[in-house]
Amino acid sequence: MDSLEIKIYGDEVLRKVCKPVEEITPELVNLAKKMLEAMYEAPGIGLAAPQIGKDIRLVVIDITHPDETDEREPHIMFNPSWEPEESSELVAYEEGCLSIPDVFCNVERPSTIKVRYTDEHGEAQEMRGVEGLLARCVQHEVDHLDGVLFVDKISQSDRILNQSKLKKMAKR
Ligand code: NI
Repeated sequence: MDSLEIKIYGDEVLRKVCKPVEEITPELVNLAKKMLEAMYEAPGIGLAAPQIGKDIRLVVIDITHPDETDEREPHIMFNPSWEPEESSELVAYEEGCLSIPDVFCNVERPSTIKVRYTDEHGEAQEMRGVEGLLARCVQHEVDHLDGVLFVDKISQSDRILNQSKLKKMAKR
């Protein structure tokens, strides 16, 4: 199976508002599994469909680390959405992105969220009280589905620091 190519900052597909997935077909489930493979290979903890050139609302996530567990915990999420839980507060945490190599900056996001999505079996799922790295990753990946990148949300000083790297990337 050929591995998928990850699109880099500057590629216009990363700025698209992605289309909802109407029907979870075997082809889409297969694509999600290939996305997980590409994500593990990179390696990363999340990957959204536009990052492999598809403008559909699909993300894959696995925040486990291979050195720390034998049991990986892949999530395949079609049409994911989230909202902050009442207990949520804004927290800053350093983010990176497989489509924006070598740029790592703090981004403020809600700490605790409720997540809704459709899984690979077509079942509606809801996760309550999602926090930590998983909450962070879901928000970062759902942003991708709206054409939003984490560098859109960094401080002005971080933007200035990374300006030339980003410009070079976009020119490739
Ligand atoms: Ni990303």
